[in-house]
Amino acid sequence: MTALKRNSPCKVNLLLNILGRRPDGFHALETVFHPVNLCDRLTFTRRPAEIQLTCSDPSLPTDAANLVHRAATAFLSAAKISDGVRIHLEKQIPLAAGLGGGSGNAATTLLGLNELFGQPLPAAKLAELAAALGSDVNFFLQDQPALATGRGEIVEALSPFPALRGASFFLIHPGFGISTPWAYQNLDRFPAAQNGMPGRARKLINLLQAGDLAAASPEFYNSLEAPALDKYPILKIYQDFLRAQGAVATLMSGSGSTTFAIFPELAAAEAVVEKFKAKFGGNCWLAVVPVS
Ligand code: C5P
Repeated sequence: MTALKRNSPCKVNLLLNILGRRPDGFHALETVFHPVNLCDRLTFTRRPAEIQLTCSDPSLPTDAANLVHRAATAFLSAAKISDGVRIHLEKQIPLAAGLGGGSGNAATTLLGLNELFGQPLPAAKLAELAAALGSDVNFFLQDQPALATGRGEIVEALSPFPALRGASFFLIHPGFGISTPWAYQNLDRFPAAQNGMPGRARKLINLLQAGDLAAASPEFYNSLEAPALDKYPILKIYQDFLRAQGAVATLMSGSGSTTFAIFPELAAAEAVVEKFKAKFGGNCWLAVVPVS
């Protein structure tokens, strides 16, 4: 049987502004997602029955606790397909990192299986399944920067930002993860961060579209930094260091723990890798990824 192979990229949030708690327990927000070309790899093969998932990372569950498995179950059920599928997940994106690795894997599974089985589901149905799997999954059904609202599942695709042309992301995973529910629950201690004013996302988008990265720099914002930097001040120390090394913006991504910086040029970002390692030791996971 021929296998279908697909890359599953990750994301950073250039802005994540929480607007308040909703009656359903989720938080209303506005966020600016940007794709990051650092990818896991998924391989799909048809089999007569059942979902069989394998993963390169033994710490990840391969049963229904894995979002890929849940996405496959939801897809086969919605498409009324009784055949099964074998899926192999090759992980590269760190876990509990705020980079949307698991959400991206789920979206890539929906898209990949729809292709493998001859496109039985329309885009609107895939979007409905994605929203039920998690708030960030819908973003990964497309490959552009995007404004997302609601709890994150209402996605408006945007054209590439001129301000980021030629720039690079410098990503640091500090070696520990932050759980998303923990970050949202602990917002209660920071009422100002929990109840942001809407409009910040459009302001950042307008500046990035106008092409002036320096003008956009002070507008990068993440409400979830309030609880995360309070508990893990090392993330702020990394950010201050990267600013001193010429980063134009630094921010935690999503609910963390990954902190990223934007450097206007690839060579400048690459030159900081060794300096960072020399200062902070080798425990962190680092990646420099050109904005593409
Ligand atoms: O939707 P997702 O599964 O990624 O959400 C994980 C958890 O993060 C939710 O159970 C909720 O506690 C929190 N969350 C939230 N508001 C959002 C997104 C996530 O409170 N908009």
